[in-house]
Amino acid sequence: MAAIPSHTNNQASTAAVPNDGNASGRSFGATEIEMLREVLERGTLVSQAGPVVPQLERAFAKWVGAAHCTAVSSGTAALHTAIAAVDPKPGDEIISSPITDMGAVMPILYQGAIPVFADVDPRTCNVTPASIETQITKRTCAIIVTHLFGNPVDMDAVMAIAKKHNLKVIEDAAQGFGATYKDRLVGTLGDIGCFSLQQGKHITCGEGGLVVTNDDKTARFMKLYHDKAWPFGEENPDHEFLALNYRMTELQGAVALAQMGRLDEFVQHRREMAARLTAAIQDIDGLVCPCDAADSTNVHWRYALRVESPLTNADLDRLSSALREMGARTAPRYTQKLAFEYGFIKNRRMFGDSGYPFVGPQRDGATEPLYDRAAFPGAVEGLQRLLCIAMNERFDAATIDRIAATIREVIKSK
Ligand SMILES: Cc1ncc(COP(=O)(O)O)c(C=O)c1O
Repeated sequence: MAAIPSHTNNQASTAAVPNDGNASGRSFGATEIEMLREVLERGTLVSQAGPVVPQLERAFAKWVGAAHCTAVSSGTAALHTAIAAVDPKPGDEIISSPITDMGAVMPILYQGAIPVFADVDPRTCNVTPASIETQITKRTCAIIVTHLFGNPVDMDAVMAIAKKHNLKVIEDAAQGFGATYKDRLVGTLGDIGCFSLQQGKHITCGEGGLVVTNDDKTARFMKLYHDKAWPFGEENPDHEFLALNYRMTELQGAVALAQMGRLDEFVQHRREMAARLTAAIQDIDGLVCPCDAADSTNVHWRYALRVESPLTNADLDRLSSALREMGARTAPRYTQKLAFEYGFIKNRRMFGDSGYPFVGPQRDGATEPLYDRAAFPGAVEGLQRLLCIAMNERFDAATIDRIAATIREVIKSK
C-alpha cells in the first residue's frame, strides 16, 4: 500500500498535482488487490451469496455509529433507497438544496414526489434551517440536507424543525465521510444517512453507495428495496413492493472494504492539508477560507474558497485559470446553475409529456414549487463567489505550497 506522502517536505516541486481521477490521486495498493483476488478466486461476485459486502456493511455501520447499513451501487442509489423508505405519495414534497448533486434531486422525482428547495447560507452554500422552515407545506414529507463539500449543516436546528412538523430527515453525506457535528459523524444525525463511493470521494470503489439508519423497520425496507424487494433468505419470500436492483458487487465491496481501513487516515490528511492551505493564504484581503463551524469538523471534499470584495469576479476566474495551468483541478462557481435550472427539470423532461409529477390530480391544486433564482439570493451569491479546489489524500505539503504560491502570485499581479 502506498503511504500518504510526507507532510514535512517543504521543497518547491514541479511534480504534477495529484488527481483523484487516476492513480496519482488515489491510494489503491496491496490490500485492495489481495481482497479482489480473494473474491475472484472464490468465484462469487454477487453480494447476496458472498461474504465481503455484508462485511463492508458491518464495518461501515460500526465506523459511522449506526445500527444498520446497506451497500448499494451508487450514491444516487443510496439516496433513492432512502427516499423510497420515506414512502412519499405522488405529489408530496421533499425539500432539498439548490446547490447539490442531482443524486439528491432526481430520485425525488422518480418516486413521484416534487423537489422543493431551501435557500443556502452564501458563506457555506449549505441550506439554512430558517429557509427550510419557510418551504414546508402540508405536502412536505421529508428534508434532504447535503453536507456540502464535507462541511456539516446545523443539524440540531434541522432536527428541531423536522420534529415540529413531523418530517423525516435524510442526510446526503456523499461528500462528508468523517465530518462531525457535536462529536457525531454526519450521516447518523438524521433518520437516514447516504454516502457515495464514486471515484472522486474520500474513499472509492469506482461506483458505490452506503445507506445507514438506526431504525429497524427502515433498515429492513432499504435492504429489500435495493434488491427488488425480495427478502432473500427469508421463508416464503415474495416481491413485497415496487423496487429496483441497486446491489453492489463483491468486487466493489472488496475495494471499498480495503479503502475503509484507511478512511480515518485520509480524512485526517485532508484536514491537515486544508489547514496548511488556509494558514498560507488567509491573510489575503478578499479570500475567505473554509473553516470548521462551531462544534463541527469540515472534511474538505473540495477546498471551498470564497472570493469577496476587494477581489472581483474576474479575479476568481484568473485564480481558477492559474491553478488549472499549474495542474490543480478547480471548479469556479461549482455547479454554476441552481438545481432547478437544469434542462430536465426546467423542461419537465420526465415521464413522457405527461408533466407528471408536477401536473395531475396527485397535486390536488397545490401551488407550483418556486423555481426562480430571484427567490434564492443566498444560493446565487454563494455560487458566484465560490472557487472549489479539488483535494485528495495524496496532496502533500509541497502541492499545497505550490497552490498557495500560485494564488499569491495572481493576487500580487492584480
Ligand atoms: C452531494 C452528492 N450527492 C449525491 C451524489 C451522488 O453520488 P453518485 O455519483 O455516487 O451517484 C454525489 C456524488 O457525486 C454528491 O456529491
